[in-house]
Amino acid sequence: MAAVTRSVLVVDDDPLIRETLADLLEDQGIGSTVVDGAEAALATAREREFDAALSDIRMPGRDGMELLPELRELRPQMPVILMTGYASIDSAIAAMRAGAFDYITKPFRTEAVLASLERAFAFRELERENAQLRRAVERTASFGDLIGSSPAMQEIYALIRKIATSSSSVLISGESGTGKDVIARTIHFSGARASRAFVPINCTAMPEGLLESELFGHVRGAFTGAHANKRGLFEEADGGTLFLDEIGDMPPALQAKMLRVLQDREIRAVGGTRPVRVDVRIIAATNKDLHAEIERGAFRKDLYYRLNVIPIHVPPLRERVEDIPLLAEAFLRKHAGAQAPRLSPEALAQLMRCAWEGNARELENAIERALVLCSGDQIEARDLALEGVEARTSAGFEEALLAEAFRKRLTVKELTDLYVERVLKECGGRKGEAARILGLNRRTLYRRDERAASAGASEASGPDDPESENGPEDELD
Ligand SMILES: Nc1ncnc2c1ncn2[C@@H]1O[C@H](COP(=O)(O)OP(=O)(O)OP(=O)(O)O)[C@@H](O)[C@H]1O
Ligand SMILES: [Mg+2]
Repeated sequence: MAAVTRSVLVVDDDPLIRETLADLLEDQGIGSTVVDGAEAALATAREREFDAALSDIRMPGRDGMELLPELRELRPQMPVILMTGYASIDSAIAAMRAGAFDYITKPFRTEAVLASLERAFAFRELERENAQLRRAVERTASFGDLIGSSPAMQEIYALIRKIATSSSSVLISGESGTGKDVIARTIHFSGARASRAFVPINCTAMPEGLLESELFGHVRGAFTGAHANKRGLFEEADGGTLFLDEIGDMPPALQAKMLRVLQDREIRAVGGTRPVRVDVRIIAATNKDLHAEIERGAFRKDLYYRLNVIPIHVPPLRERVEDIPLLAEAFLRKHAGAQAPRLSPEALAQLMRCAWEGNARELENAIERALVLCSGDQIEARDLALEGVEARTSAGFEEALLAEAFRKRLTVKELTDLYVERVLKECGGRKGEAARILGLNRRTLYRRDERAASAGASEASGPDDPESENGPEDELD
């Protein structure tokens, strides 16, 4: 490995010292630029970087003590070593206080100069590594428009980097509001297709016929209202990316056509006969469980495998709590700019406790609301108005449960029946265990089950049945 050539800026008004130092450094394989005073030193330092500066203190015009702060400002990373022939403790202390890296007295021994320079180089190297590390840390807290430092997001960034240049299909899955849309855009705009079109289409929003002609285009007269030939989104996206959002909602007939397109890489316009070759990367997204959709026959397995070449799963926000402060911060800046108010520690703690069923989208809404409600330069917990959200987490769950029950005007029997059924299900039908959780004795639970079974036949009498009104009281020991 070739050694890195170091470079030193040497400043001295004495030509003999300049020459001596230049020779010494050259012998050591260290590059040097030699100048005779502060002005020349600043001009040179402005032009290029050095690994260290070695400057005399006593010089006509601006001296070394005056030069030091200016060099420090110009090149904060460059260690400056001061030299003087008038050694005094005072000037040494003053130099170090002013930010000198080291202090050498003249006449100097060459070993002393070299040792000091070596330390300066090592220090400089360490600083450089630290800066790189800081940049790396900063970088991984975001990627394009994506924000988040959780391991899950890091994995997603790494994956995006890896697949950016390929054209393989990507299937993004995750709950609503987890950022599937942002991920799809990031894949496109960080990849080889960035200069071509990114064409999104939502498969939920359109009836089957319209969706087909949107995707593949149509020829004039293909159906009523088709007055002219129309290019489809596949052609619009040629060379770029087609983002099929909510792919789980694509009608079955269209799924079959889509599969053919993915296999043949060519499309046929509605009413048209001539196939058209297209070069399109497909990114699909869904918040549905496609395996379940396949199970119930709503989604084609073969299409699933075609799309799922590169799967990206985005975990819900509640499973990557460390992303919450970063996202909250970003949403604050997005909606209130650089002067955005800060979050109080209590407010932040509350944000981190929430369940965020609507994920980042819900968090963004909460931040927007808080910006309206807050007065002053700090957002307090009360400004977040998170009662509703918090109710879904531990402390307030009763409140939410009861409010919902009341809204539906549930009778006591309906409420308890729902709970008993739920516990039985959770216990996999093990009545003993269910009875223990419910605080009922096992016989009561059996009796209740029998009655429920016989009542099943006469559902119509249901909850208004006068007899059933006393039901729960009989049964809860
Ligand atoms: N990791 C993230 N970094 C930055 N912004 C994000 C992130 N995740 C989500 N958002 C923001 O949250 C909002 C919702 O994200 P997005 O529309 O991508 O979600 P989605 O998963 O596509 O939701 P849906 O399933 O409802 O379509 C957007 O405003 C988006 O910018
Ligand atoms: Mg979306």
